[in-house]
Amino acid sequence: MTQPKKLFIKTYGCQMNVYDSERMAEALGGNGYEEVGSPDEADMILLNTCHIREKAAEKIYSELGRYKELKTAKPDLKIGVAGCVAQAEGEEIIRRQPLVDLVVGPQSYHRLPEMEAKAGKEKVIDTDFPEEDKFEKLRARPKAKRGPTAFLTVQEGCDKFCAFCVVPYTRGAEVSRPVSRVLAEARDLVERGVREITLLGQNVNAYHGEGPDGRDWSLARLIWELAEIDGLERIRFTTSHPNDMDDDLIDAHGRCSKLMPYLHLPVQSGSDRILKRMNRSHGRDSYLRLIERIRNARPDILISGDFIVGFPEETDEDFRDTMRLIEEVRYGQAFSFKYSTRPGTPAAERAQVEAAVADARLQELQALITRQQRAVQDAMVGREVGVLIERKGRLEGQMVGKSDHLHAVHLTADLTPGDLVRVKITESGPNSLGGTLVGAAAGVAASTAASTSVNTA
Ligand code: 5AD
Ligand code: SF4
Repeated sequence: MTQPKKLFIKTYGCQMNVYDSERMAEALGGNGYEEVGSPDEADMILLNTCHIREKAAEKIYSELGRYKELKTAKPDLKIGVAGCVAQAEGEEIIRRQPLVDLVVGPQSYHRLPEMEAKAGKEKVIDTDFPEEDKFEKLRARPKAKRGPTAFLTVQEGCDKFCAFCVVPYTRGAEVSRPVSRVLAEARDLVERGVREITLLGQNVNAYHGEGPDGRDWSLARLIWELAEIDGLERIRFTTSHPNDMDDDLIDAHGRCSKLMPYLHLPVQSGSDRILKRMNRSHGRDSYLRLIERIRNARPDILISGDFIVGFPEETDEDFRDTMRLIEEVRYGQAFSFKYSTRPGTPAAERAQVEAAVADARLQELQALITRQQRAVQDAMVGREVGVLIERKGRLEGQMVGKSDHLHAVHLTADLTPGDLVRVKITESGPNSLGGTLVGAAAGVAASTAASTSVNTA
């Protein structure tokens, strides 16, 4: 029997890239590859890249530079660049770094096996937006066992064209996968041990996949259908746009017990003036009213957001508006970024905010968010929450899982990954909660409770 070839994939950026890397590893499995954890032993290295900010994109070139020695020592080593940098820069990547053999954009991953076969003999580049359904052609090899959580891409691309963002160019126009395909993939994941699925899309709540009845189904309808799958205990989705948060989805948050009380709903800025310039097509007040409606439906929902500071022409007053919006919303989680100029986007042409000013704003904003996150986390102490156990902790007998609100929770109990349990939260550390086992949740045979412990690492 021939030895399997070794594939090392390094993934940058968002959760969709994590999902895509899994699909690519599976596809290359058909070419005789198995995944390994280090580039040193690899026959092929694939970087799955992110183009969202300049730093992320530039990282790729320094990483590629590190593989020079490996390639000299092993000339047959194939080096590929996938993801959004591949899409945005195409053959420019090979011009800048000739050791790259293969460049593949996110819409062409199903062609990767063919490309791999040619790579090494010639340079292979594919950054097309082909007609065929790449997901169908990227079907998982059946029945490999999985951990308790998984991502599932249901929608890809974006038609919103925010003035700062490369996604509409790198991921292309907004496309939704048909309902039957999503359900089949979800059932397959559950059979392989998955208990929690996070539905992915750049604008996941704009989902409008064709249903079995021939009509377009909304994300809410898809979620209700997924909730019927026995053994699938938790559903999440990310990332949402405020304008696509319809009544049915808000209602699902109120009534669908498998839909977890966590919503990532980026606003980017709290200033109407900047939101307009960002081409966000929603205002500050409409966002705040939306949050209120969501909280009316599901009072304990944890709201998460994204913020950009230092967007071109942002004044101090605009920034204060953002800070006031954050104060009002009380985020349980947020990601904040200094504006990064992206070639080809409308905002790249505009007057830039001084770097030192943007740095200071980012620091101030992050300090506020950290306080809010901590307050939301601390408020969990004394409450009983559902926890899906994911892995062993660092201490003897300790297990780690995620709460319904996506907090990391540590507890010492005789449990295995995949157990869904009720935990009484007793401690709140900087990055995680600690608790004691109360009992099994929904049909899980859990064992006896033991002591509390918070991992503060
Ligand atoms: N500069 C800084 N942050 C950006 N984001 C998107 N484009 C840029 C950019 N040019 C942020 C947004 C988005 C998140 C994924 O990345 O906040 O929601
Ligand atoms: Fe980018 Fe805006 Fe589309 Fe989100 S909605 S992917 S920020 S263009």
